[in-house]
Amino acid sequence: MSLAPTWLSGEGWRAPDSGIEGLYSADFALDIARRAEAAHLDFVFRPDTSVLPVAPLDQSFGFSSVDPTLLMAALVRETRRIGMVTTISTTFSHPYTAARQMMSLHWLSKGRAGWNVVTALQGHENFGLAEMPSSEARYDRAEEFTQVVARLWESFPSRALLVDRAAGRYADTDMILPIDHRGAAFDVKGPLNVPQYPGPPIPLMQAGASARGIDLAGRMADMVFGLTPDIGTALDTRRQLTARATAHRRDPRAVRLLPGLSLYLGRTRAEARDLFMQTHVRVTRAQRIERLETATGLDLADWPEDRPITPADLAAPPRARAQYARLMQLIAADSPTLGELLNRPETLAAIHWQVIGTVEDACAEINRWFEAGAIDGFIAVPGGSARSMELTLDELVPRLAEAGLFRRAYAGETLADHLADGLDLPLPA
Ligand SMILES: Cc1cc2nc3c(=O)[nH]c(=O)nc-3n(C[C@H](O)[C@H](O)[C@H](O)COP(=O)(O)O)c2cc1C
Repeated sequence: MSLAPTWLSGEGWRAPDSGIEGLYSADFALDIARRAEAAHLDFVFRPDTSVLPVAPLDQSFGFSSVDPTLLMAALVRETRRIGMVTTISTTFSHPYTAARQMMSLHWLSKGRAGWNVVTALQGHENFGLAEMPSSEARYDRAEEFTQVVARLWESFPSRALLVDRAAGRYADTDMILPIDHRGAAFDVKGPLNVPQYPGPPIPLMQAGASARGIDLAGRMADMVFGLTPDIGTALDTRRQLTARATAHRRDPRAVRLLPGLSLYLGRTRAEARDLFMQTHVRVTRAQRIERLETATGLDLADWPEDRPITPADLAAPPRARAQYARLMQLIAADSPTLGELLNRPETLAAIHWQVIGTVEDACAEINRWFEAGAIDGFIAVPGGSARSMELTLDELVPRLAEAGLFRRAYAGETLADHLADGLDLPLPA
């Protein structure tokens, strides 16, 4: 469950009962975490950036946000079971700081911390960098970063803690060893000044869809935050993850694919569609045209409003076809005019997998993807209004449990326990 209030973006925050005034408070996040825990979800999750585009703040809260790791630390004493997955960038942080923060969160939450490892797409100007490092450079650094963190976590092993009052020995110092890392990006002596938590390790999440990103996931991730707008992309990603995990001699099932799932939910499909369109009402014509141009590869500046766009028009290679699969299906099926397309949900659709419909629609769609072996779960990013968030947690998840697709109660105490307590279907060949 997303702790970023995706359901308040666009126009959502303007609803009288949105609670937007509490956006930067712990209580706001706590309410969601408690609801998610009542639904027995594996974890709450907070993405993060280190940059603030200012223009969007005129209309909504944009990327403004409290620090996600501090936020999680404020929630752990008010919750008991639910995992806390925070985001720390390997491009802008330092492995010693990240290792310490994550192990601290793991102790404070009694084994419920998770780390979303991101290489980030922007923010260099806030960290003294002349330009954003290339994707290759960021992944080189991410690999070294995560290896250093893993070694730091083990540098002060939990079994070194003796706490022997009678003998007066606190720890076995022979077991607390420097890591003496000297690498391309970091020199870190160690050991870490927090002991290892004496329970299951901290699960790692990876978010990045390139070949390097998938390889990094195959090497070290327990979860992948996937960008898979359609089932074909999800199946393809799943197969790539299986291949890379196998190449790194890991069980492919240990790398769980969890796409973002944008949920605009209503009592009826019409209500859900209205909610979606209302949420995007201030997306301008120029912005809609830009999205259509990105999707289709067409120059639509002078395209007459009443001229249909047909599959035959799509000769130019689109820049991001997979992200606009629904739009492409619509064009293939109906050849809508430009004017019609400008007012279709498909034009405004999220980059994530998306359901605009009823709880039953969402349940059926999740079942379809799961049965196909395309996903191991999903990260819920409800949209439009607090009602979508409530329907997700109070109705959709219980329905998935009733259908035998989700747990009815927690089996364990830690995030690693929850991840291990999943349903296994055969992986797609
Ligand atoms: C689903 C998804 C979620 C992401 N979330 C974040 C995030 O919260 N913070 C961030 O700085 N970068 C985030 N990223 C960016 C990635 O860390 C990475 O920098 C970017 O995707 C480029 O790598 P790639 O070419 O492997 O996809 C995300 C990427 C994806 C695909």
